[in-house]
This record gives sequence, structure tokens and C-alpha cells, in this order.
Amino acid sequence: MSKAIGIMDSGVGGLTVAKEVSHQLPNETIYYLGDTARCPYGPRPVEEVRQYTWEMAEFLYRQDIKMLIIACNTATAVALEEIKTAFDIPVIGVISPGARSAIKYTKNDTIGILGTVGTIKSKAYEDALKDLRPTTVTYPLACPKFVPLVESGEYNSSMAKKIVAETLYSLKQTNIDTLILGCTHYPLLQPLIEQYLGSGVKVISSGDETAREVSAILAYRDELNSRHEKMKNKYYTTGSPVIFGQVAREWMNDQHMTIQQIKLP
Ligand code: DGL
Repeated sequence: MSKAIGIMDSGVGGLTVAKEVSHQLPNETIYYLGDTARCPYGPRPVEEVRQYTWEMAEFLYRQDIKMLIIACNTATAVALEEIKTAFDIPVIGVISPGARSAIKYTKNDTIGILGTVGTIKSKAYEDALKDLRPTTVTYPLACPKFVPLVESGEYNSSMAKKIVAETLYSLKQTNIDTLILGCTHYPLLQPLIEQYLGSGVKVISSGDETAREVSAILAYRDELNSRHEKMKNKYYTTGSPVIFGQVAREWMNDQHMTIQQIKLP
């Protein structure tokens, strides 16, 4: 079925999921929307996040997509269930896939969770982990300084290294053996996070498991593209296409990507 998969996030973070989807499903077309002009969502009130998430979802739905991925944990925690109920296409988020992945890896049932203020407050990961294994011990930590570093393209800088170390200091004193990157922006900081925490902690991002879920759903519905049905990916941002493009081209390894600026709603 030659329709595209819609992927949305508050900014460039969802590209970490888009990259996994295009790796695991190379015949699929992706329409990506980053609401960069209103990023970050993490510190915003729930009602505002809900409204913005709906506006993004409706924009992509109007592009005639066959499936929607809410590739933003903050938006998933607030609006996944209601959008899923309202739309007549499959809609998935990134929290259940991340939690499933962490449960697979942990040996001592002690898991750290990094996320935005909104995601950590929602306790969505703790609930998902406890549903899967009630004895899991969790260490949630909000990291409000991480998203601005990623959006500005500074995720490799010495400043980033310092902020990662300061933010994760308390977590390093715990006995977690697995850490969930519960924000889709954080995988861009993954090398620094792994370096700081050392090899005793398995760092998990939800992209891989989310892409697996997409594959299973489309296969079940008999809606996977054939080799000839791939179209050109489209990238939309509500912010500056120049700044979005700097991170997006490097991360997606696509120098010819076209980026269109749009207005929401
Ligand atoms: N990438 C988003 C997430 O997964 C949100 C970052 C933000 O806008 O604060 O939570």
C-alpha cells in the first residue's frame, strides 16, 4: 500500500524513531513533522501539550497517511489513547515499546528512566514497567537541559558532556543496570550518556522496538509497501527549516532532504 507513515514530535527528536523505521522498513515512505517553533513540550501544561499534539496529528492525517507514530514521549503520555480512539488508522506511541525493551534487558529489575518534566510527572513509564513486571524498581529523572542542547545541534559539545555528567550524577550512585531514554531527543546524546555511566548500564531507546511494532502492525494489515511503492520522504517543520535541516540531514544521513515550513493549526 503506497501510502506514507506519519511520524511526529515536538522537534527533531522523533527523527531517532524515523531513522529506525527507515532502517528496518526501507520500502516505506515517511512524512515527518517536527513542531520546532513550539519545542520544548516537556515543561508545558498538559492541556497545551494535548492541543499541540492534536494539531500535529490532524496535519499528518490530512496527508493521507496509513499509520501514525507519536514519536514524542511527552505527547504520548498525554494524548495517545484519545487519538488512537478517534482515528481510523493505527496510531502508536513510544512509551510501551521503550518499557518492553527495558524489561527484556534488565537482570536486576532496577531501571532508570530519563525524560522531560512532563513525562516524568505523568509516571507513564513507571506504570508501563510495573504492568509488565510489578517488582521492578525505578529511578525516574527529569532532564530539562537535554532537549535545548539537541535542538541547537550542540549534542557533541564539551558543554553537552558537562551537562550530561551533572544531570546524571545522582543516577550513577544507584544500582540500575538498564536506563530508558524516555525522550526521543536523548538518543542523540547517547554516546555521552554511555560514556558517563559506563558499560555496566544498558542504555535503551524506544526507536528500535517501535519500528518492530510498526512492521508487525503493517504486516498484519497487509499494508507493507512493496519495493516499487516507496515515494520520497517529506519533512515538515513549524520552525526554521535551516536549523531543523542541520540536525536532520546529519542524523538521517540524507543531504538531499527537502524540508517544508508549515503553520499549525
Ligand atoms: N522528544 C520529546 C519526547 O520524547 C519531547 C521533547 C520536548 O519537547 O520537551 O518527550
